[in-house]
Amino acid sequence: MAMHHEDEVVGKAYDHKLMKRLLKYARPYKWFLVGCVLLLLVITGLDLLQPYLIKVAIDNHMNALTQPMVVFTPGKEPRPGISFDGYIFVRERELGDKYMPDYEGSAVPVKAEIEEDGDTYYLRIQSPDGDVEIRELTKDDLQVFKAYDIRAVIRLGLILLGALTLAFILNYIQVYVLQYTGLRIVSSMRQEVFAHLQALSLAFFDKNPIGRLVTRVTNDMDALNEMYTAALVNLFKDVFLLVGIIVVMLRMNVELAVASFAVLPVIVVVTAMFRTKARQAYRAARVRLARINAALAENISGVRIIQIFGREKEKFQEFDRVNHDYLDASMRELKVYAVFRPAMNFISSFALALLIWFGGRRVLGGTLEFGVLFAFTNYLEQFFRPINDLTEKYNIMQAAMASAERIFMLLDSRELEPEPEKPVVFPRPRGEIEFENVWFAYNDNDWVLKDVSFRIEPGETCAFVGHTGAGKTSIISLIGRMYEISKGRILIDGVDIRDIPTQELRRHIGVVHQDVFLFTGDIKTNIALGDTGISFEEVREAASFVNADRFISRLHGGYDAEVRERGATLSAGERQLLSFARALVRDPAILVLDEATANIDTETEALIQDALKRLTRGRTTLVVAHRLSTIQNADKIIVIHKGRVREIGTHQELLAKRGIYYQLYLLQYKEQIGA
Ligand code: CTP
Ligand code: MG
Repeated sequence: MAMHHEDEVVGKAYDHKLMKRLLKYARPYKWFLVGCVLLLLVITGLDLLQPYLIKVAIDNHMNALTQPMVVFTPGKEPRPGISFDGYIFVRERELGDKYMPDYEGSAVPVKAEIEEDGDTYYLRIQSPDGDVEIRELTKDDLQVFKAYDIRAVIRLGLILLGALTLAFILNYIQVYVLQYTGLRIVSSMRQEVFAHLQALSLAFFDKNPIGRLVTRVTNDMDALNEMYTAALVNLFKDVFLLVGIIVVMLRMNVELAVASFAVLPVIVVVTAMFRTKARQAYRAARVRLARINAALAENISGVRIIQIFGREKEKFQEFDRVNHDYLDASMRELKVYAVFRPAMNFISSFALALLIWFGGRRVLGGTLEFGVLFAFTNYLEQFFRPINDLTEKYNIMQAAMASAERIFMLLDSRELEPEPEKPVVFPRPRGEIEFENVWFAYNDNDWVLKDVSFRIEPGETCAFVGHTGAGKTSIISLIGRMYEISKGRILIDGVDIRDIPTQELRRHIGVVHQDVFLFTGDIKTNIALGDTGISFEEVREAASFVNADRFISRLHGGYDAEVRERGATLSAGERQLLSFARALVRDPAILVLDEATANIDTETEALIQDALKRLTRGRTTLVVAHRLSTIQNADKIIVIHKGRVREIGTHQELLAKRGIYYQLYLLQYKEQIGA
């Protein structure tokens, strides 16, 4: 497990292995995504259609009055044309190539053209044998020709409007479906991460700060969502669009197309430069942001200590440094983008200028139609849009890959041995606990428990005493298998706990810690912990059994009183009583009290001692206590010293031994006399 530098994991913008794994999560929504891609294909087609329609309007109708026509007798025309003087006039370009050679169906005088001379227009009709007939067109005559083009332009306008509307609707559907899919994918991933986090052993949480884990489930997931919605599928659109534009341009005019793409090599070079710079800058900023987050989390949760010790100024300066570091890194990142975007803008403008210079000369020379040039400028603009967005998508992909890597790292962390393959049936145990030569370390070979062996009979109350850091809490955590041991065995009722499904095992163990953790919610849910199998009556019973009902009834709302901020509004003793009720209400076969009575005043302690007597009846109880007065009645006292079991016996036996326990006892006794 190497998660130490994970905040500094900033990989490539594309990693095949990661992507494969990410796509696995998208599999249930495969058809949504395929649908989106198909929609994008249609949308791209519609986008490409628009400049083309305008080109047709310009070249075929706005600038078409003087274009050559072919004359047909009515009924023989291959396509609708202009009805004038008993004939149908159809423009050559609208006929297409196939009608040109033989003028099939045309009337005897076949070719016609409108000529312009100042304000007067002439219709010039030329028959095959060379006869030319020229007649002047009146205003009304001319209007007949113009009306045809006006109708056509209106028609094209309507088609354009239709295309725009359709594109709008399809875009709406596509965006909706895509966002929905992205949210669903990420939501299910988040659920998986949460479930995984819950199942991880405490060893994992010892190593990974909470702030970082929270970031995993929020920020990193957002980055993935952005990838699914903003980058991944839209990349298809960009590719469609770019390829489509290139194809359309080449088909319209090869020469002009080549001229338009003259800047492409420059784009490639600039983009490559940008990528290297952007990656470095992003990495630097990312690492510093992680530092800010960590500093923030720590300073906010430690604000009490900071204020009481008056460390505000120092902490402020500390944060100021981190903050400035991040600012600097962000500025460097900003500069990269500040250069790249305008540079791309310049290149695209330059390409446009080149196109107008190159195409404009040809339009003026009559070798290029204006509509084509117009369409080209339009396409060129469309062409640069995805290229400009590329920076943004690059950013998104980069962030997503880094996030994916961190999330997968988290999902791949296995601190616990897998659940037993052949789990034993584990009914309520009698409560016999046995440690057999247990060796345990939190880190590698830094032994915290060394060759620990002891045996607790069912129903016994056993106390652990020893100096701070001796390993008492560690022993207790091992019984619930919160950590894995390195050597030896732990048996409950003779069954190795590794053969028991952890959930089954923990169901029979009730633990009261020194620091009580309360959840947001009311008092009764904090006792039942959302277990629907526990009735309110049982909650009340348990609470009154441990004498917690007295303070609960004083709370505003009683059992329904809200607990805020992990119970900051309750006293430590009150929280302790709640945790007693919490442990008791489950009626565990094994009860563990880790320095549970440390926070309780003398009066309450008397009540607790009384409750404990009843509480411990019929179940195995493990007690860790520093105040030896509280454990004198224990059936067995185990003295732990530097991770080893040094003495086992009753209070009297151990006193008689005059060993470590005796020393401890004398120390505390003297204290009491002195006080
Ligand atoms: N320890 C550790 N990682 C943890 C918990 C504890 O490395 N997550 C170490 C402690 O630094 C200590 C040793 O393990 O040196 C034993 O800790 P613990 O069992 O908690 O000691 P206790 O006997 O319970 O000490 P105390 O009386 O202070 O509660
Ligand atoms: Mg402890």
